[in-house]
Amino acid sequence: MGTLTKFALGMMGQLRPKPAQGEASPTIVLPSPVTEGGMPLMTALSRRQSARTFARDELPLSMLSNLLWAACGVNRPDGGRTAPSALNAQEIDVYVALPSGAYLYHAAANVLQLKVVRDLRRVTGYQDFVDDAPLDLVFVADHSRMKLVPVGQRASFASAAAGAISQNVYLFAASNGLSAVIRAWIDREAIADALGLSHDQQVLLSQTVGYPKDRVSPT
Ligand SMILES: Cc1cc2nc3c(=O)[nH]c(=O)nc-3n(C[C@H](O)[C@H](O)[C@H](O)COP(=O)(O)O)c2cc1C
Repeated sequence: MGTLTKFALGMMGQLRPKPAQGEASPTIVLPSPVTEGGMPLMTALSRRQSARTFARDELPLSMLSNLLWAACGVNRPDGGRTAPSALNAQEIDVYVALPSGAYLYHAAANVLQLKVVRDLRRVTGYQDFVDDAPLDLVFVADHSRMKLVPVGQRASFASAAAGAISQNVYLFAASNGLSAVIRAWIDREAIADALGLSHDQQVLLSQTVGYPKDRVSPT
C-alpha cells in the first residue's frame, strides 16, 4: 500500500492490520544469542546509516535473537541490559511485528510471546516499505514501571531509552549487512489499538530492519 493511501487511512482511523501469514506459535523460543565477536565497533559506527529499501526475505531466528539481544538483551547476571534506562526502570518493551503475528520480546527468558495473530507490519508506520520488510520493531514505554521518575520527565526519559535501543539495532544492522531505519512518523493510536495496549503504555518509535533490497538471495 502506498504512503499517501496509508496516511489517508490513518487520518480516518482506518489503518488496520492484515491477516497473519504462516503459523503463529504462542511462544517462540529464541536460540541463545551469540554475544561475542562480530564487526569491530568503530567499523560498525562508520557503516551506520538509515536505509529504506528492503528485501522481503525473513531474517533467520538466530539473526533475530542476536538482533534483539543487541537491542536490549540481558548482558549481566543482575539482569542489566545492553541499553540504559533511567533508574534502571527497564520501561521499554520491544514488540516484534512479523508476518505471522505481533510478539513481545521477553529479554530475560529470551522468548517471543505472541500478542496478536495479525500481520501488524502495515500498521507500524505510514511509509510504504514497512508493509513488506520482514521485521518492524515497536518501542513501547510502560509508564507503570517508572514510578520513581517524576511524572513530567517520564516521556522524555523513555524516549531517550528507546533511542539507545534503536542505536543498538542500527549498529547490529551495520555489522550484519542489514538495512534499518528508526521511524517517528507513525500512527500511535492505530498501533496501540492493534496491540491492545493499556493507558499506561505509550508507543514511542518504530524501527524497520531487513536485508537490503539489492541483496542476492541464497538459492
Ligand atoms: C527521532 C527520529 C525520528 C525519525 N523518524 C523517521 C521517520 O519517520 N521516517 C524515516 O524514514 N526516517 C526517520 N528518521 C531517520 C532520519 O531521517 C535519519 O536518521 C536522518 O535522515 C539521518 O540519516 P542517517 O540515519 O542515515 O544518518 C528518524 C530519526 C530520528 C532520530
